[in-house]
Amino acid sequence: MVFSEKQEALVKESWEVMKQNIPEFSLRFFTLILEIAPAAKSMFSFLKDTDEIPQSNPKLKSHAVKVFKMTCESAIQLREKGEVVVSETTLKYLGSIHLQKGVIDPHFEVVKEALLRIVREAVGGKWNEEMKGAWGEAYDQLAMAIKAEMMKAH
Ligand code: HEM
Repeated sequence: MVFSEKQEALVKESWEVMKQNIPEFSLRFFTLILEIAPAAKSMFSFLKDTDEIPQSNPKLKSHAVKVFKMTCESAIQLREKGEVVVSETTLKYLGSIHLQKGVIDPHFEVVKEALLRIVREAVGGKWNEEMKGAWGEAYDQLAMAIKAEMMKAH
């Protein structure tokens, strides 16, 4: 797996832009996830009993930020080491929480689509195929590590 400095830079740059407005992008991220997969609503503790997406729920923000931040870290590791290295403890935790919440493979595709759309909206004119590929690859590798851990936890 070859991940170039350019790809790493594209991911980092766009994450820097998104970091400026975490409340807004978190909300937009979940709005998109539910638009693409309405049934995902019941899995999230902060969504299941409400008709509207809560405006400033710390758990919602936390999940949105973790997905983006970990994907960004995954890009850095892919460039430095050629693979995604998540600590054993973190992976175990990620594996068990997603398994317990009923997350299945297709959900990872939904989140990927929402993630790519958010990046595209955030960077505007800077969006291009290379940036899409870099985020996509970094996310896929991270998702693969989590899914592998979910299989082990089964
Ligand atoms: C919880 C990360 C993908 C659904 C969590 C937590 C983390 C995390 C760190 C623990 C709670 C927190 O700190 O916010 C990630 C990462 C992902 C990913 C890095 C992808 C690379 C997904 C997908 C789904 C999902 C695809 C399903 C659509 C959930 C749910 C919880 C959770 C339902 C429990 C949240 C709650 O109800 O409070 N995730 N996640 N995650 N994740 Fe993910």
